[in-house]
Amino acid sequence: MRSLEISSPAKVNLFLKVLGRRNDGYHELKTLFHCISLQDQIILRRISKPGFRLITSHPKLKRTRSNIIFRAYQVLQKVTKWKGGVEVKLKKNIPVAAGLGGGSSNAAHFILGMNRLFNLKLSFKTLLHLGVQLGSDVPFFLYKVNQAIGTGRGEKIKRFPSKNKFWFVLVVSPFGIPTPLVYKRLKARPLTRISRDATITSADFCCNRDGYPPLRNDLFSASCRIRPELKRIDALFDQLGVTRRLMSGSGSTMFSIHKSRREAKRIAQIFKRRRPDIKIFVCHTD
Ligand code: C5P
Repeated sequence: MRSLEISSPAKVNLFLKVLGRRNDGYHELKTLFHCISLQDQIILRRISKPGFRLITSHPKLKRTRSNIIFRAYQVLQKVTKWKGGVEVKLKKNIPVAAGLGGGSSNAAHFILGMNRLFNLKLSFKTLLHLGVQLGSDVPFFLYKVNQAIGTGRGEKIKRFPSKNKFWFVLVVSPFGIPTPLVYKRLKARPLTRISRDATITSADFCCNRDGYPPLRNDLFSASCRIRPELKRIDALFDQLGVTRRLMSGSGSTMFSIHKSRREAKRIAQIFKRRRPDIKIFVCHTD
């Protein structure tokens, strides 16, 4: 095999509860990751010259050394002592720094793809060990399941596949929000034994009687303090009578969740008319 094409999907967090601030500076979470159909494409190709080459048309990702895929290549090389050459073509569709996990997904799918293309024979445990070093959301994408519960700093994954197919309207503001800044602004209490034990089981994430999962995001207020524009988007959803709406991760994406494609399209169209300055995507459960 000379090359490999991989789809790298985005996620939304349908639930994100912050249990407390840990001594290592991270925050202990309970979150529900949900994979969506919005995706990047990654093409890996063997090249004869040893090393790493990244080709992307996205202006913000052109500096190879700061790209998370390059960092993934570095940790992989360190662990496996792999000395080959790879060219990575990245077709970016997922907005950057938008709380949709695009970078984490790219890193995870790059590692999975390298393992296949170069037959590196890395165990799943090793892949997870690499993923954790790259970011808290990376392990979720390694599991290749459409929904899972994340605990710890988000890196401890329990599969919880979704049988329901939902439709989403993603409202992506032109600004990104750096995740560390959001956590810094969060007024989280230090983690205690009691808060760490605030167990949430799979049953807590099951759909309510209305057929929708419980929606919650404890980072919303902190993100609004950084970008008050998010409040205005939230208010517009409210005006349109959309009650099932949320921010994904640390933002900036806000989304609504629907059971029908028609309803999602209708909301997206109204949003587009009212706010032509904002990017709107309609997508569904992956
Ligand atoms: O793990 P990741 O690289 O995505 O985290 C980026 C930053 O977000 C961390 O350095 C930390 O400041 C913050 N963070 C946190 N608690 C988490 C996840 C991230 O405080 N559970």
